Amino acid sequence: MQYTANSLENQWMPFTSNQEFKQTPRLIVKGEGVYFTDHMGGKVIDGSSGLFCCPLGHGRKDIAEAVYEQLLENAYASPFMTSTPGGFELAQKVARILPEPMNHVFFTNSGSESIDTSLKMVMAYHRARGDGQRTRFVSRERAYHGVNIGGVSLSGMVKNRETFTSVMPNVVAMRHTWDPENVFTRGLPEKGAELANDLLRFCEMYGASTIAAVYVEPIAGSTGVLLPPKGYLQRLREICDETGILLVFDEVICGFGRTGSPFAAQEFGVTPDIMTLAKALTNGAQPMGAVAVKDEIYDTICDASPENAIEFFHGYTYSGHPAACAAGIAVQNAYEAEGTFAQAADMSEYFLDGLFSLQDMDCIKDIRGYGMLGAVELKAKGNPGALGTQIQKDLFWNGMHVKFTGDTGCVAPPFISDKSHIDEMIEKLRKTLETI
Ligand SMILES: Cc1ncc(COP(=O)(O)O)c(C=O)c1O
Repeated sequence: MQYTANSLENQWMPFTSNQEFKQTPRLIVKGEGVYFTDHMGGKVIDGSSGLFCCPLGHGRKDIAEAVYEQLLENAYASPFMTSTPGGFELAQKVARILPEPMNHVFFTNSGSESIDTSLKMVMAYHRARGDGQRTRFVSRERAYHGVNIGGVSLSGMVKNRETFTSVMPNVVAMRHTWDPENVFTRGLPEKGAELANDLLRFCEMYGASTIAAVYVEPIAGSTGVLLPPKGYLQRLREICDETGILLVFDEVICGFGRTGSPFAAQEFGVTPDIMTLAKALTNGAQPMGAVAVKDEIYDTICDASPENAIEFFHGYTYSGHPAACAAGIAVQNAYEAEGTFAQAADMSEYFLDGLFSLQDMDCIKDIRGYGMLGAVELKAKGNPGALGTQIQKDLFWNGMHVKFTGDTGCVAPPFISDKSHIDEMIEKLRKTLETI
């Protein structure tokens, strides 16, 4: 299959150097198991589960058939004041694996929409309790919470913010959790739990009663797999319990088994009040996100509303889209039937052994990892990110897909990877990094 530069011109690509890409396209034309095929026929092993979306790998017939059958049966109905059965079934399946007492699930179409939806839920909850003066949000440096205005306001990545200056006011950021003293730590660092006290400092500075919620990714994924120090999430929970601030976990990457448990909340033993989800909810087969909340949040918002009135003035034309729900149900069935999260937990040691075996390479500044999520941070050369961008491309032509942020490659294999797939990924990483 041949593509000319002109034929690629019309699509404005997301988070991509359009001009460079259109000169040297990297098109994926097929996905099967843990492999992609590129437009020149090359085989590319998927080292990042697409964008952390595909624990079951690619080309699953059961998911495709579920979507196909749903589209034939009923492709669309309004989710406002009518509904379709799939959303209820999927919400029930997700609620079964959520930590108690999180039993209510609101559907969106992406992680970014989940974040913005959750911000509105936080506002609605506090207002319903007569606590509407809580207007300030706390997030963290080096956070990534998607690209809608709410998510950008919470995010801590300069490139994602500096062009877009009219974001939400009243957001302050705690320090991130990466500490040079913890380099090459496998699993959770011992040091750093006290960084959670940044939240306390904001309480002391602004008054806890003005703070609505604190947002964290349990493991900050997109900015390079920054792990929470031992005790850090627990400390955030304690401060929230003492002050009435809501704790929101953005589990868009961690959710659905990436840490070895269904959610990072269970893996780390800390239950948030609200959890944002997307990606592996449908194994990436349909765009979908979700927000899960504790019963108290759902009940408070619903109970505050006059009888028979709409309780939450929010929703998307495609909330709980039938095809997305069909994909989600098929995927959740597969996770359960195939023990997919246990597969991730079982393969984690082997994967991390492989990743940390690269530690001898001079070009590497740090390696981090937990579950089936790891990072290889390179020593920058020239402009920050220039080396990472080049290596991502080189890796692709050497037959491996890895998502880079700046100079850090985020390695997140599909959970169906066997040892030979992990070996192949580590070998391709080493071979490509040797060229630096
Ligand atoms: C933690 C986190 N939150 C939110 C998002 C945004 O999700 P989406 O790209 O589906 O809008 C991402 C995407 O990578 C993410 O990693």
